[in-house]
Amino acid sequence: MVSLTSDMNPLHPDRNLALELVRATEAASIRAVPFIGRGDKEAADGAAVDAMRAFFSTVNFDGTIVIGEGEKDNAPMLYNGERVGSGRGPQCDVAVDPIDGTSLTAAGRQNALSVIAVSDQGTMLDASSVFYMDKLVTGPAGVGVVDIRLPIGENIRLLAKALGKPVDEIVVSVLNRPRHEQLIADIRAAGAGTRLMSDGDVAGGINAARHNARTDMCVGIGGSPEGIVTACAIKALGGHIQGVLAPRNDDEKEKGREAGLLVDGEVYEADDLVKGKNTIFVATGVTDGQLVQGVRREGDFLYTESVVLRGASGTLRRISSEHLTSKWL
Ligand code: FBP
Repeated sequence: MVSLTSDMNPLHPDRNLALELVRATEAASIRAVPFIGRGDKEAADGAAVDAMRAFFSTVNFDGTIVIGEGEKDNAPMLYNGERVGSGRGPQCDVAVDPIDGTSLTAAGRQNALSVIAVSDQGTMLDASSVFYMDKLVTGPAGVGVVDIRLPIGENIRLLAKALGKPVDEIVVSVLNRPRHEQLIADIRAAGAGTRLMSDGDVAGGINAARHNARTDMCVGIGGSPEGIVTACAIKALGGHIQGVLAPRNDDEKEKGREAGLLVDGEVYEADDLVKGKNTIFVATGVTDGQLVQGVRREGDFLYTESVVLRGASGTLRRISSEHLTSKWL
């Protein structure tokens, strides 16, 4: 049954906030447009960050960025610990990824998104001191079935059984990286197909968790921040997500340990990545993708497509917007 509690408590993020936040991801995506395919990922990211930040100040909430663009000294804006919003309204943890897929944007490739995720204050794991996280994401069929501790072949067989389809119809998405050579070989040896992503495992995870999607599972090592952001969306989709931090070296492992993180192969379950169900995930397409279309320009208008996922209600909404080009570019 849908709980109305979170919407009745003014201190929790609510559905109105979800719709407000879309304005910020729309703005970030639109501002990135002049940089699509221009080979400069920093410039694309900078434009998206500026736009997102400007819109945050107009939103009535009291947000603290838990996952941002890095430490204050290295990231002048949207840094970890920065307060965002008007300061009035719900108190929230905020994760921002003004562009997930900066390289995709710079290259003019598919699947770049602008993303914001929000949850109740104090519920998001700050995993920022360890850059990478190993992840396993599936849709609802995988809940209580797959486990990141099992060999990938076993997880594929278990998921195929739960989905009621043959193993050779299972498709697993994974970032195309040298570190995943063995993983990719193991997926194929198990009889499943792969969907290799050049970047963007937030979209990869969400696509794997959606019903009737072209992929069934998303696995492998990607960014830790992206893992937390993805978890906020997976809560709304009723899917499965687990993460294991993957420090790059002993120094990073030590930093992670000092920050109170589990760095010795322990598993973070969905509720460890972000506690509770009161999550909001909003994303607007920068470039076209399976989840959303990218920004389209036709004469006097710019068209954006966004998704809004709310953990509290288990909904995914699509928002198509038309913007007067003259106001933006
Ligand atoms: P950026 O947009 O910040 O470049 O991230 C893109 C991305 O592909 C993420 O989706 C993914 O989690 C991470 O990079 C993987 O990192 P790496 O490119 O180092 O393998």
